[in-house]
Amino acid sequence: MNAVFENKKVIVVGGSSGIGLATAQLLANSKAAVTVTGRNADKLNQVQQATGIQTQVVDSADRQALDVFFKQTGPIDHLVISVSGSKGMGNFAELSLHDLRAGFEGKFWPQLHTIQAALPYMKEGGSITLITAISSIAQKPGTSGLAAINGALELMVPILAQELKPIRINAVSPGVVDTPWWNFAPELAKQEAFQQLTGNIPAGRVARAEEIADAIVFTLGNSYMTGTVIHCDGGFSC
Ligand SMILES: NC(=O)c1ccc[n+]([C@@H]2O[C@H](COP(=O)([O-])OP(=O)(O)OC[C@H]3O[C@@H](n4cnc5c(N)ncnc54)[C@H](OP(=O)(O)O)[C@@H]3O)[C@@H](O)[C@H]2O)c1
Repeated sequence: MNAVFENKKVIVVGGSSGIGLATAQLLANSKAAVTVTGRNADKLNQVQQATGIQTQVVDSADRQALDVFFKQTGPIDHLVISVSGSKGMGNFAELSLHDLRAGFEGKFWPQLHTIQAALPYMKEGGSITLITAISSIAQKPGTSGLAAINGALELMVPILAQELKPIRINAVSPGVVDTPWWNFAPELAKQEAFQQLTGNIPAGRVARAEEIADAIVFTLGNSYMTGTVIHCDGGFSC
């Protein structure tokens, strides 16, 4: 793995916590030159101090900020996009469409803006990896809104693979992962949700961010992998 990533420039967009941060750490351990982005400067400073990974405040909902960032960054080998908000979950009859719109604003549009802004700087043979979610195919009550957001992104992947070649593009679709994404819920409610959502799946538990990061790094390193959505969900979608 070291040979694949040594001195490769990798940008992890939304890398100050959770899956993005675990991915950045894995890649930094493999000697990649990693920069992570996020909106919160304090969180990014903590990451930089704790890991030595380079950080930059960039809001992926702000296209102008993205354009400036990628121009400054220059040529990129690999791009990982791990941004999202936590809105859009709930049974449809009660689901606030305002919240669902916020869910799209927090994930769908920032991911697309990031791809477009980065494209002029992607090296031939480089890769883009989106982080989607297993809600796109799981067909579980309460996830229709999340399915819409993530399904929309996943449907684009094989088409973009053809349009963007020789740049590769894939998505990694996680199941339930114990990350700060769930911080909207009090601890007890979160643990109950984890148990309810994953107690009966084959893995029998939520994922650690590092387990998803491992799948993400695979999509970067495998030069024949493009147009693919990889499910890393502990059997959630079975
Ligand atoms: N955790 C799960 O159970 C789960 C399951 C399936 C899929 N996913 C997906 O996995 C991806 C990563 O989520 P996670 O669980 O790792 O959540 P997380 O710990 O909350 O990480 C999200 C990261 O994105 C950043 N971010 C959010 N909006 C941003 C924006 N507009 N511009 C720049 N950075 C932004 C956050 O930092 P700031 O807030 O400081 O900007 C943070 O670094 C998301 O796409 C999520 O939908 C998660």
